[in-house]
Amino acid sequence: MKIPITRPLLGIEEADAAHKTILSGWVTQGPKVAEFEEDFAEYVGSKYAVAVSNCTTALHLAMIVAGIKSGDEVICPSMSYIATANCITYVGAKPIFAEVNEDFNLDIEDVKNRINSKTKAILLVHQMGMPADIDAFQAICKEKKYNINRRCCMCYWFRL
Ligand SMILES: Cc1ncc(COP(=O)(O)O)c(C=O)c1O
Repeated sequence: MKIPITRPLLGIEEADAAHKTILSGWVTQGPKVAEFEEDFAEYVGSKYAVAVSNCTTALHLAMIVAGIKSGDEVICPSMSYIATANCITYVGAKPIFAEVNEDFNLDIEDVKNRINSKTKAILLVHQMGMPADIDAFQAICKEKKYNINRRCCMCYWFRL
């Protein structure tokens, strides 16, 4: 039996847009990227948005911006895409894998048990379109003064 998951919704509109962009000659940072950044920022209610080449790059940048460095620990889900752990190792830090629940999102009790003096951030992935309990994690991070890195590559459209 085949159970399709995370099948992308791409149709003629997306194909047309890609077609037009290819024919425009702008195959690097061009007007379409700027338009996308503006539209995305407006959609998520942010002042700015920066488009990058892929999710791994975005996460790597997020680790740098959050000041994560060698010797630090970052708690992340034990079941996710490899980019989740890779971005932590790229800055010399150690991924600490926490359990996930039935919705594949981080188990808050297991996360709490893994927090120690080296913990610098929690990398919260909204897995496969299912939003994690951001309020609960935000409360821990506020208390401990941690960074919370919300990975929304699979779920950026939901509202909190
Ligand atoms: C949780 C998650 N993050 C990121 C990605 C994609 O990462 P990248 O754009 O760096 O290939 C995937 C792809 O399946 C994913 O499942």
